[in-house]
Amino acid sequence: MIGVVAISENYCIAKDGKIPWTCPEDLKSFKELTSGNTVVMGKKTWESIGEKPLPNRKNVVLSRGYTPGPEIDTSKTVNFWTLDIFFPLYNWGNIEGKCFVIGGLKIYELLSDHIKEFYVSKIKTYVKDGSLYMPFDFLDAFECISQEKVSSRCDRCHYIRTSEDKDENSSPK
Ligand SMILES: NC(=O)c1ccc[n+]([C@@H]2O[C@H](COP(=O)([O-])OP(=O)(O)OC[C@H]3O[C@@H](n4cnc5c(N)ncnc54)[C@H](OP(=O)(O)O)[C@@H]3O)[C@@H](O)[C@H]2O)c1
Repeated sequence: MIGVVAISENYCIAKDGKIPWTCPEDLKSFKELTSGNTVVMGKKTWESIGEKPLPNRKNVVLSRGYTPGPEIDTSKTVNFWTLDIFFPLYNWGNIEGKCFVIGGLKIYELLSDHIKEFYVSKIKTYVKDGSLYMPFDFLDAFECISQEKVSSRCDRCHYIRTSEDKDENSSPK
């Protein structure tokens, strides 16, 4: 799984249910990175994007409230799944393309052991009174292998995990 996150200088990711900055260049680069693949998000992030699927991507919305029917249909543009549904499908390779974990904080935490790469957009702003912050050590097990200037106020770094791999087949915590 590949994490994608945008953080402020003080690691804020959200304020009052939204991302507290606008950076169209970063959104464009996010779209290019994730198009044609699968994006996995939490229910609150789904609500924050207006409950509309990101186009040209399979959207997986993680929620504890899903009641599975007799068959799991992976062909839909948006799937509401519990971790118990999502995780076996991921392990069996039934996820279209690459699997990008796009937040929010709860979902990064839930899937943290399984994220092998991270794309981190570093926004040159300091957010006062933010609601959610990435832990300051969330990249400790990762190394930046490339960096690009997305705009005058945003650099994006591509990190890969360098510490020992966790067991991909175990259920997430
Ligand atoms: N800066 C960035 O890059 C970035 C990226 C993404 C999002 N965000 C921001 O982050 C905020 C949302 O983050 P968040 O941490 O509050 O929420 P979230 O991670 O988007 O979603 C939390 C939801 O995930 C579901 N969930 C929790 N545990 C689960 C489990 N064990 N199995 C399945 N589903 C589970 C729950 O839905 P149910 O209650 O339905 O069970 C829970 O309400 C928004 O403000 C958004 O704008 C920022």
